[in-house]
Amino acid sequence: MQTTVSSQYFMELEDKYGAHNYHPLPVVLSKGEGVFVWDTEGKKYYDFLSAYSAVNQGHCHPKIVQALMNQATELTLTSRAFYNDVLGVYEKYITDLLGYDKVLPMNTGVEAVETALKLCRKWAYEVKGIEENQAKIIFVEGNFHGRTMGVISASTDPDSYGGYGPLMPGYEVIPYNDLTALEEALKRENGNVAGFIVEPIQGEAGVFVPSDGYLKGAYDLCKKYGALFIADEVQTGLARTGKMLCCEHEDVHPDILILGKALSGGVLPVSAVLANDEIMLSIKPGQHGSTYGGNPLACKVAIAALEVLVDEKLSENAEYLGEILRRELKAIPSNLITEVRGKGLLNAIVINSSEDSKLGWEICLKLRDNGLLAKPTHGNKIRFAPPLVMTEEQLYECVDIIRKTILEF
Ligand SMILES: Cc1ncc(COP(=O)(O)O)c(C=O)c1O
Repeated sequence: MQTTVSSQYFMELEDKYGAHNYHPLPVVLSKGEGVFVWDTEGKKYYDFLSAYSAVNQGHCHPKIVQALMNQATELTLTSRAFYNDVLGVYEKYITDLLGYDKVLPMNTGVEAVETALKLCRKWAYEVKGIEENQAKIIFVEGNFHGRTMGVISASTDPDSYGGYGPLMPGYEVIPYNDLTALEEALKRENGNVAGFIVEPIQGEAGVFVPSDGYLKGAYDLCKKYGALFIADEVQTGLARTGKMLCCEHEDVHPDILILGKALSGGVLPVSAVLANDEIMLSIKPGQHGSTYGGNPLACKVAIAALEVLVDEKLSENAEYLGEILRRELKAIPSNLITEVRGKGLLNAIVINSSEDSKLGWEICLKLRDNGLLAKPTHGNKIRFAPPLVMTEEQLYECVDIIRKTILEF
């Protein structure tokens, strides 16, 4: 792509006036529809990232946008100082859909994670009876739960936690995909473990899919030792991996479920924590909250976003297309790709280079030139996660672009 005056101008604006906490691929987008986005010069691309799995329903889904517009002229925000006529309707809808007694609405993904961690500790003191300030929460290596102090304190990525100390106490970090390590930690802490938090597939770390049986095994261990099993499904949730929730692949119903991203289909920041009464009611009025959490605009958008997932059978589509995508990627005759992995439409290829090599970035630049947008994660892994509204024909077109691009190297 030749960057023209227009895209150059917008990139320079961001560079000059915005904090340098991101390193975007050089492409400036100004329009999106379904599986496509357009840059400021009018060039069309397949979106193969979906805003990190937020835009599962496709860009500017008409039903979700209509819900937004209808509610925007009625009532947008009341705060939780008063009741509103949408929140309860949304709460009933999402809890019925996902099988929980209650939901606590928040905005961004990391806020929902923070909420889950606070809820877990409260439950530990109020219900489980752990002595004050003794509760431990177990995390796994390679985790990504967002960017607040509360969650970077458990990160094993120096970019995430470095230079931000002192970090939060009360955490223990064990290897991912290792049930023995989990059982040892649960035993070692001698009843003081409040919960275990895990991404059912580690998205940000490079789409690491744990062994079959890991989630069920971890859940069973949590039950055995009286700890809560907390699933961060912010990225894996909501039809992305071929089921409404990734944990459903192993028939696991988490004690605390964390959702974000696709809960609004990319329209607004909407997140949620779901749990049953025994857990959720440990937080009492005044003990947690958010001004925007549960606002009527977000609630209407979330209902529409969830209805789209169900009505358009996007789990089934993700499952079906994911099989094709992985099969076709594995068939590319190049030793540049050392591994293809994923579930549903949450996938990654691993490039034959070191983590600090520039090759992943260069491949993404070439993919962009060829009309497909993806981004490397941890250098040598490229995530492939298109919107779930993709058709089979479009997927094959994307595979052609990827094959052509890889063979150019
Ligand atoms: C598993 C997981 N949890 C939490 C988050 C944080 O979400 P947000 O960026 O909306 O705060 C992310 C973001 O990528 C994520 O992938």
